[in-house]
Amino acid sequence: MGNIRHRRFLFIVKTSASGKIILFGEHAVVYNRPALAVPVNQVQVDVEILDSDSAGVWIHAPIINLHAELSSLPSDHPIGSVILQVFSMLQQSPSLSGRGARGEGGIQINISSTIPVASGLGSGAAVSVALIRALSSFFFLPLTDHQINQMVFESEKLHHGTPSGIDNTVITFNKPVYFIKDKPIETFTVGKPFTIVIADTGISAPTKESVGDVRKLWQKDKNKFESIFDEIGQISLIARRAIESGKPELLGELMNQNHELLQQLTVSSTELDKLVLAARNAGALGAKLSGGGRGGNMIALVNQAEASQVAESLIKSGAKNTIITEIK
Ligand code: MEV
Repeated sequence: MGNIRHRRFLFIVKTSASGKIILFGEHAVVYNRPALAVPVNQVQVDVEILDSDSAGVWIHAPIINLHAELSSLPSDHPIGSVILQVFSMLQQSPSLSGRGARGEGGIQINISSTIPVASGLGSGAAVSVALIRALSSFFFLPLTDHQINQMVFESEKLHHGTPSGIDNTVITFNKPVYFIKDKPIETFTVGKPFTIVIADTGISAPTKESVGDVRKLWQKDKNKFESIFDEIGQISLIARRAIESGKPELLGELMNQNHELLQQLTVSSTELDKLVLAARNAGALGAKLSGGGRGGNMIALVNQAEASQVAESLIKSGAKNTIITEIK
C-alpha cells in the first residue's frame, strides 16, 4: 500500500480582458485634454493560472515567445514585474508549496491573445489587467477595479514613458470612457449604436516612441502644440455630445479633422494616410488613425450596410487585418 499517491485537486483560474480603440483625442490626452475610448470585445487576452508539478512560477506566452520561470526574468520585465507587483501586495512571496499532483510543484501561467502587439489596440494593458485579475482570484486577494486600474497604470508608466492612463482605464472598466488625465473616471452612454471598421497597417509601432517624439516637439514650440491639443480636446468634447445625443453621423467629419491634427503632431504615416483615404473613398463617413500612430491601426465610421465593402477596400489598400465593431 506504501506507494499509493493521492492525486490532489488542481486549482485553475481563467480571466480575460478586451482590446480597445481610441475614438478621439489620442496624444492630446497626455496633455490633460479629454479623449474618448471604447472596448473592442472581438479581440482579447486570456490568462489561465493552474497548479503545476514543476516548482516555481512558470509563464507561457507564445504570442511573445516567452516560456520562462519568473526568477529568470529581469525585474523590469513587463509581465514579470506585474506578477511581482501582485506578490508584493500579498505582502510575502505567496506559498506555492503543496501545489501540483505530488505537492512539490508551483504554478503555471498561460497567456494567449488575439490582440496584435504594438498596434494601438491596448495589448500590453490588456495582458496586465487579465493577469492581475487572474492572480487576485488564484491567491484569494480581493481587488477592486479601481485598484487593478491603478496597478496597471503603474506598470504602464514603467514601460510606456508618460502614459495618460486612458488605455488601462477603458480596458479595466470595459466601458466607453470620456477620459481626462488625473480626473475621476467618466463613462458615457451611446445614444444610437454606430459601426466602426478597424484596420491594421501591420506595422508595429511602440506608443512610447510616438509619445516621446510629440513631447520633444511640444518642448520646442509649446504655443503651437498646446493649441493643437486644444483643438483636439474640443473635438473630443463635441464628439461625446454627438454620441450621447444619438447623432453618430456627425462623428465622420470630426474624425477627419482629428486625423489632420494628428498629422500635424507627426504621428501619422504614409500607410495610415493611405488607409484613411481608402476608407473615405470606399464610402466611410470619416476616418482617422487610432492610438499612438506611426503604424498600428486606423478606424473608419461607416453605415452598417457598407461595413464589409469598406473593410474589403482597406485590405486591397494594404491593411493586414480588419475588424468590424458596433459601438453601443
Ligand atoms: C495610446 O493608446 C494613446 C496615447 O494618447 C498615449 C496615452 O494616452 O498614454 C497615444
